[in-house]
Order: sequence, then structure tokens, then C-alpha cells
Amino acid sequence: MAEAYNTCIMDATQTNPGADWRETAFDLTRGIAAYCGCSLVGGLAKVIARHPQADVGNAFNHKQVACKLWARDKLFESCGSRFGSIWIVGGWYGVLAAMLFDDPRFDIGAIESIDIDPGVAEVAKTLNERWKERFRASTGDMYTLDYAGSRPDLVVNTSCEHIADLRAWLALLPPGTRVLLQSNDYFSEPTHIACVPSLQAFEKLAGLTEIAFAGALPMKKYTRFMLIGRV
Ligand SMILES: C[S@@+](CC[C@H](N)C(=O)[O-])C[C@H]1O[C@@H](n2cnc3c(N)ncnc32)[C@H](O)[C@@H]1O
Repeated sequence: MAEAYNTCIMDATQTNPGADWRETAFDLTRGIAAYCGCSLVGGLAKVIARHPQADVGNAFNHKQVACKLWARDKLFESCGSRFGSIWIVGGWYGVLAAMLFDDPRFDIGAIESIDIDPGVAEVAKTLNERWKERFRASTGDMYTLDYAGSRPDLVVNTSCEHIADLRAWLALLPPGTRVLLQSNDYFSEPTHIACVPSLQAFEKLAGLTEIAFAGALPMKKYTRFMLIGRV
């Protein structure tokens, strides 16, 4: 499958070396959005057109999507459908926010996506334009946010492998705050500064007072771990 794909890509580049892949991706995603009536794919088309620098192919690759579908399903099964406000820290390009808004099972008041990288908020806003009245994206360090003052119903952090001290961050949340956390054992990826070797190690590190879901999702090169519960 991967071999056939690589051959096709090489053929396409050789027959049309000047082809702008972004233009092709834009046409294709816009067409798929129209065919499927999918606002999220329409948002991806806008991101490709307006933010050529965004690494959206990485954020929306099939592994990233699988991990977020898993998060969405387990969240629904363990916590239900209604959330007043959700904060997604380390929210990157806002893919999980868009997937939650796009899922008719959920009734969500608002989602705020916060990321330390100043280059991602505008991309997240474009991706979530369809839900702009209920979506905010801002630049900030998850260690400096006022969780106690704002008291979101759910705090999501699927970037636990990217932060140095998970326990110190969790200690900032008011006791009882509901959280969804993901990490992985992908130690060889250079941007992963705090992977965990197993689900048990992740559970121990997080030290949640209540666990509604704990599970592992094996991928080809690594296993993703998820905890849903309360601090
Ligand atoms: C590669 S991305 C997301 C990976 C994760 N597996 C996912 O798909 O949600 C990790 C993000 O965490 C963000 N990040 C890292 N440290 C952060 C911090 N202290 N506060 C907020 N965002 C942070 C990075 O800027 C980046 O956008």
C-alpha cells in the first residue's frame, strides 16, 4: 500500500514537476467537503489556502485522527455529551476541537484552544471558523493559566509527552476538575520530552483521584495512552 502510494507520488511529480501540491490538496479537500457535506474538511481546505506554512498534514494524518476519534468516543462513553466549556491545552491547530464540534452526539457550549506556539492560533481559528461563535484560540503557556478562576468543565491535554512536568501542571487544576489526558511511548521522537513506558506508568505519574477510563491504543510505531478522570 505504502509502496504503491510512493510510486504514484513519484509518477505525479515526474509527469508534472511544477504541480503545486497545495493547490491540488485545496481542490481535493474542497471537493471532498462538498461531496460529504463536512464542515471540518471544508475548514481544512481553508487552512491549506490561507496558511501555507501550517503543517496540517501532520496534524491531520491518519494516526492523529485515530487518536482523536478514540478520545472523542471514550469521552462520550465515560462522561456523556454535555459540556459547558472545554479547554484544550497544547491544542495545536485545533483539530480535536473541530472533531468535537463536528460530532452531533455532543452538546458543547464553548471550546478554548490554548497553545504556547504563537504560530498556531490563527490556523486553529480558520479550521474552526464554522463554529466561531463557540470557539476561541489563544497563545499561552498551560502552566500559567487561571484554571481556578475560569473553572472549565473539562481540561484536555493530548500533548502530555510535550511537557516537562505533568504532575506540576495537574497540581494547578482545582481538585475535582475533569481531565482527558493522552501521552505515548514514542521516545525516539525528538520533540517528545516526557514519554511514558506504559499505561500503568502514566496512571502513576498523573495520580488522578478518580479514573473513568484508562486505556492504550497500539499504533504502528508507538502506543498511545489515555486517561479520563478527575484530579
Ligand atoms: C505536536 S503538538 C500536539 C501533539 C498531540 N499528540 C496532539 O495531537 O494533540 C504539541 C503542542 O503542545 C504545545 N505545547 C508544548 N508545551 C506547551 C505549554 N507549556 N503550554 C501550551 N502548549 C504547549 C506545542 O506548542 C504544540 O503545539
